Amino acid sequence: MSFRSLETADLAGKRALVRVDINVPMEAGRITDDTRLRAILPTLYFLSEKGAKIVLLAHFDRPKGKRVPAMSLKPLADPLSDLLEQPVAFADDCIGPHAKAVVAALENGGVALLENLRFHPGEENNDPDFAAELAKLGDLYVNDAFSAAHRAHASTEGLAHLLPAYPGLSMQRELEALDAALGKPRRPVLGIVGGSKVSTKLDLLNNLVTKLDRLAIGGGMANTFLAAQGVDVGASLCEHDLGDTAREIIASAKAAGCELLLPVDVVTAREVKPNVAFSVRSLDAVAPDDRILDAGPETVKRLLEAMDSSSTLIWNGPLGVFEVPPFDAATVSAAKRAADLAMAGKIVAVAGGGDTVAALNHAGVAGEFTFVSTAGGAFLEWMEGKALPGVAALET
Ligand code: 3PG
Repeated sequence: MSFRSLETADLAGKRALVRVDINVPMEAGRITDDTRLRAILPTLYFLSEKGAKIVLLAHFDRPKGKRVPAMSLKPLADPLSDLLEQPVAFADDCIGPHAKAVVAALENGGVALLENLRFHPGEENNDPDFAAELAKLGDLYVNDAFSAAHRAHASTEGLAHLLPAYPGLSMQRELEALDAALGKPRRPVLGIVGGSKVSTKLDLLNNLVTKLDRLAIGGGMANTFLAAQGVDVGASLCEHDLGDTAREIIASAKAAGCELLLPVDVVTAREVKPNVAFSVRSLDAVAPDDRILDAGPETVKRLLEAMDSSSTLIWNGPLGVFEVPPFDAATVSAAKRAADLAMAGKIVAVAGGGDTVAALNHAGVAGEFTFVSTAGGAFLEWMEGKALPGVAALET
């Protein structure tokens, strides 16, 4: 893939329409996690230093083409201004006279945030007229919203064809990290896929078995694989109707030469409650009222050994019910080992997807991975091997 580079762009005095993803979690009007705001700062500093006039395009939540006051981006202008340490002007619409006036008033290096793009149906419909209205506000287009790149919307796709289009610095970093993990990785490559359901990760598993040397399956979805091989998983979460699918994935992995690492022992309890009595069971000893809530110590030992002898790790989804100790043990051990190996330069460790970031934060090691993507759906679609419209549109 080849992209234009902002480094060589002529930016002074130019209006840069910068698509960002500041769809941050909020409670009672306050931001509860500002990671996505921080993620765009490098691009904004860069553009500001080069004298561009920065016009931020963003969505918030899913207002479905209507003006929903509770989904306004206005409450984000001040927190952004605090982080940037410069004023952020706000326009109460993303097109039309007010947006034009706010953009026209920008000085070189100045920043404006435009109201929620999704207040207009044209955004999600990728309406060419809406994209053309947006394009009137800029001289160039920068997309720094990898986490929205799986959407073919006017601001993520259409606009890229109307103005000279560049990936922002965070987008560039994300693409490089993902390429190092799955595009042109150092081998052997180990994947860890966890989470509760096979059904939500079918495309992902089918793609990964063709790309990876080893794939460890954990979390509730491992139960489906175990049951498909005749293991009695008791009262555990399990998609019993997906036995054939699981067996097909096992067969595809074998055909592609991808070694599957399934649990060889498990941690069970009767209920999911912090610090309840639990047992470590071999696979033939799961009782009818047992619930498998984490991978067992022998499984973890094998996974750590696989990590030690891999050069690249790509991780999505926890290995157990990490939110409820002690069922966080396998996830925390694996996360710590991956972080140690990454810090020692022995492995490229890339992780992503909603729960995964929370699990790595819980283990206290997210900052030690080579790269942790905050993208949810976009990260999964990329792991599924799908082209992301917002990335494809930036290609030259
Ligand atoms: C996200 O939060 O993952 C992105 O902002 C995309 O949001 P969406 O799922 O509403 O398109």
